[in-house]
Amino acid sequence: MKLLQLADVDVRGKRVFIRADLNVPQDDAGNIADDTRIRASLPAIQDALARGAAVMVTSHLGRPTEGQWKADDSLAPIARRIGELLGRDVPLIRDWVDGGAWHDALKPGDVVLLENCRMNVGEKEDDAGLAQKMAKLTDVYANDAFGTAHRAEATTHGIARYAPIACAGPLMAAELEALGKALLDPKRPLVAIVGGAKVSTKLTVLRALLAKVDTLIVGGGIANTFVLAYGGKIGKSLAEPELVAEAKSILAQFPGKIPIPIDAVCAKEFTASATPELKPIEKIAPDDLILDLGPQSLATLKHIVACAGTIVWNGPIGVFEFDAFANGTKQLGQAIAASRAFSIAGGGDTVAAINKFGIAGQIDYISTAGGAFLEFLEGKTLPAVAILAERVAA
Ligand code: 3PG
Ligand code: MG
Repeated sequence: MKLLQLADVDVRGKRVFIRADLNVPQDDAGNIADDTRIRASLPAIQDALARGAAVMVTSHLGRPTEGQWKADDSLAPIARRIGELLGRDVPLIRDWVDGGAWHDALKPGDVVLLENCRMNVGEKEDDAGLAQKMAKLTDVYANDAFGTAHRAEATTHGIARYAPIACAGPLMAAELEALGKALLDPKRPLVAIVGGAKVSTKLTVLRALLAKVDTLIVGGGIANTFVLAYGGKIGKSLAEPELVAEAKSILAQFPGKIPIPIDAVCAKEFTASATPELKPIEKIAPDDLILDLGPQSLATLKHIVACAGTIVWNGPIGVFEFDAFANGTKQLGQAIAASRAFSIAGGGDTVAAINKFGIAGQIDYISTAGGAFLEFLEGKTLPAVAILAERVAA
């Protein structure tokens, strides 16, 4: 799929509207807890500015009610952080859809942040009237928000239809290239690691991946459901008994592709101070909670990862937030880091684990996306990408 790239558009003297994903985690006081997405969005802005464009940037933050301005939903802290990182003042424009004085005053070399786009009525519904108004503000629309590419909203989709020129920003392009390399034409063996609490929320991704990968490593509550399906014991661990039949059919359909844990680190309670106890799966007691993988299972997985050609990682395999139960995620992460495979990771928990264990520099690509990353793994069409491709084809 060929997309027009921002880098290939002559933006001198033009107005450029960048849709970024600046949806960062915040603490209760509104302070930015992790600014990775902001930093990742800077190259598009800097490139357009350096080449003489007048730049408008917008993003959503959270899921505000349309038609209402609330301080909690405001991009004000984001504007401040971008300003600090760019070393200049970045004005935040409220009620920007209809243009006005701020828009008339915008000149090459200027950069403004347009308030939370999901405050606008019609954004979520991808309203054509709203998208047309926004398109009128600009000469060039650049979508750099890969993290929101699975949403068809007015700033991610509709505007791309109506803007005079619609292209992909450098982050969007890099994400698509890395994911494409991992999944569309992977060096084999291709190994996917999918952790997380529930099989039910990741069922489609598990099935889609199984059709492509050589090995699928499951972790967390997902692994527990597969252990049950295999006839193993999990005590009172997180699992979905109602999905055991589904898990059995998956195991039968893809024999040998999903390694099943044979030992685990258990505890009697879900706390950081709980006493860890190593047990083979068949010795797990009814009141045990599996909180991490055991060393024998881990040795098998580390070997699989070491021999991989490509690794795709989404989701921790144990309760890595508790140090006593972090070993599995840590060691598997370190094995991924040490592997010669092309490795790509995505999702908030996964990136938190990567940062906790200090291995970010050794993962080939760390995606800024959560939901969009999963939908790409599922093989779904991302509407924000599809519309950019349509514009090229038209
Ligand atoms: C994300 O954080 O995954 C993206 O910013 C998309 O946010 P959304 O799930 O609210 O659309
Ligand atoms: Mg918030």
